[in-house]
Amino acid sequence: MKIGIIGAGNVGTGLTKHLIAQGHSVMLSFSLDMEKLRTTAAALGADVGTVAEAVRFADVAVLATPWTAAADALAQVGTPPERKVLWDCTNALKPDMSGLLVGTTTSGAEEIAKLAPWATVIKAIPPFAELLHSPEALVGGKRVGVFVCGDDANARTIVGRLVGDIGAEPIDAGPLVLARYTEPAAMLLVQLAYTRGFGTAIGFSLLRDAAGNAPDGV
Ligand SMILES: NC(=O)c1ccc[n+]([C@@H]2O[C@H](COP(=O)([O-])OP(=O)(O)OC[C@H]3O[C@@H](n4cnc5c(N)ncnc54)[C@H](OP(=O)(O)O)[C@@H]3O)[C@@H](O)[C@H]2O)c1
Repeated sequence: MKIGIIGAGNVGTGLTKHLIAQGHSVMLSFSLDMEKLRTTAAALGADVGTVAEAVRFADVAVLATPWTAAADALAQVGTPPERKVLWDCTNALKPDMSGLLVGTTTSGAEEIAKLAPWATVIKAIPPFAELLHSPEALVGGKRVGVFVCGDDANARTIVGRLVGDIGAEPIDAGPLVLARYTEPAAMLLVQLAYTRGFGTAIGFSLLRDAAGNAPDGV
């Protein structure tokens, strides 16, 4: 698939490594230093474009900016000629990481959907960048679970496959409104990793009765 990534930092480059290794084509965008972005992209085998070009190029666009830069980035998209799937990787972190700026009565994902009316937004917060940049994104030999939320089941499947391609285990969590709960769960991981001494080699694993509790595809 063609993947257009907005934000080529720790997450954007970590996703790029895995996605290119799995045969996808990637265009990176959005930087205060375009020369650095070109060097980064060349080293990874990715193309470079403006944010608008990356979204137009994409079968799936990926938002991997700091929360505080997301509105600025999305304002640069304009109006693509066709509807796009937008994989939202952001955490709505306060700049000092002490908490979330959005939560439980709405979600970062729902706010992103308002800023990107051209997009079918799928929320799937990837594993920690340190894991993405390790040779295998595994913890204790196991794939990290990533909750996938969005109102379009087909788009959840598409992003779920990409989550698999980055070495994680997609967990189909249903509609976008559930991001109100998956986002604070991701924040718990951030707190455990950075303030409770767990480090970044952590992630979710959902235990379930595979025979009896299949997602209903809502
Ligand atoms: N890091 C993790 O482990 C992790 C895991 C899951 C989710 N997330 C979430 O994923 C998102 C990205 O995290 P990250 O760690 O990849 O962040 P990051 O390393 O800071 O990367 C952010 C990218 O956005 C660009 N950028 C930021 N502000 C910009 C601006 N005003 N104009 C143009 N470009 C700008 C930066 O470009 P330049 O620096 O080149 O200017 C950089 O490429 C965040 O929402 C984070 O909460 C992070």
